[in-house]
Amino acid sequence: MAIAARPPQRRIYMDANATTPLLPEVFDAMRPFLLENFGNASSIHQQGQRARSAVDKARNTVAKLLNAKSSEIVFTSGGTESDNLALFGVVASGDHIITSAVEHHAVLHAAEELAKRGVDVTFLECDASGLIAPAALTAALRFNTRLVSIMFANNETGVIQPIAELAAITRAHGALFHSDAVQGAGKLDIDLSPDGPLAGIDLLSASGHKMYAPQGIGVLFVRHGVKLAPLFHGGTHERQRRAGTENVAGIVALGKAAECAAAWLSGNAGPECAGTESPTALAELRDRLEQGLLQAIPASGVNGAGHPRTANTTNVFFDHVDAESLVITLDLNGLSVSGGSACQSGASEPSHVLTAMGLAPAKARASIRISLSRTTTPEEIDEALRLIPSAVSQLRSISKSWKAAIESVDALAPA
Ligand SMILES: Cc1ncc(COP(=O)(O)O)c(C=O)c1O
Repeated sequence: MAIAARPPQRRIYMDANATTPLLPEVFDAMRPFLLENFGNASSIHQQGQRARSAVDKARNTVAKLLNAKSSEIVFTSGGTESDNLALFGVVASGDHIITSAVEHHAVLHAAEELAKRGVDVTFLECDASGLIAPAALTAALRFNTRLVSIMFANNETGVIQPIAELAAITRAHGALFHSDAVQGAGKLDIDLSPDGPLAGIDLLSASGHKMYAPQGIGVLFVRHGVKLAPLFHGGTHERQRRAGTENVAGIVALGKAAECAAAWLSGNAGPECAGTESPTALAELRDRLEQGLLQAIPASGVNGAGHPRTANTTNVFFDHVDAESLVITLDLNGLSVSGGSACQSGASEPSHVLTAMGLAPAKARASIRISLSRTTTPEEIDEALRLIPSAVSQLRSISKSWKAAIESVDALAPA
């Protein structure tokens, strides 16, 4: 039975790991820096000074979110640039680096490029949950290992790596540790202070558009004392670590988003920052959605379940359903989700993350990512619980392999 079409203005957005909505309060904070306060932060006149002081203020707020020093914050154009700056900035030909098979392409492809330039690269395998074993890292370290890069939380499954342990092992070995925290920053407590649990992290990437700021602004945390060669050559911006006129409005937005994230993480978002009030409240919505789907849909399951995950993410499979068709069917009915990482959509290859976790290609192709945002409501969860089971049964009703599977179960059933 076809699902009733949903008016476009009432769309439900559950693809926050691809990009988050811009929070109105974040937009309000950045707006003046696109209009009246449009100055270049390097200019000495008043418009320039206003821009400079806004950049300084935002740098402090972002540093506070990560419990870092403001001098350790480098603004970039986004997560991809931060990852590239981290990898290319500290590694040279002849070095060895270690990363993992489940990284985002921003790290994987950067590592592959380094390999072409004479860097030896080890890609660690993960277990069935997508986790990197600390023992595997220990075994892979070499005398010339310069850098280890392991993501904080996975963009497809939300699975959180044992980062403190991996970073400590790397530090003890004398190598540098980078973490792509694009899906962790603003969602998880990240304390980078030198005496904190994550003291072993030397470099950490974050991205504005995964934490309710706009696209095109990012951060690289560079621990005090780490020498970083710039990717770009030009002016002396960002303490010579990232040349180019600052994206003042984007930086201000990121500062405001960091302030809201800090309040949300402390369970105290309040009316100043829209959305659910805490990670616990968001995880409750996610868990209700997940449980509801598993109960309503036979032959379904959660990829990466049973391990700590970011509160907003679930990756679910529905056997004998083509994820791409499901994403399109749901889209036509007003629900936005994703079939793997957004950067891969359009490609018919099964997700490299799910296949690294050992999923057969058919199961990986039957998996969708649902990533809630802080503004997701209980009513939207109810609606998703109506739409997804209907869409799955609609697609299964025309799936030959599903019919064959059902028939073989029926044939095996006792008379
Ligand atoms: C884990 C991870 N790293 C890096 C990126 C790239 O970030 P950006 O889109 O800001 O370049 C993404 C984007 O999806 C991501 O999820």
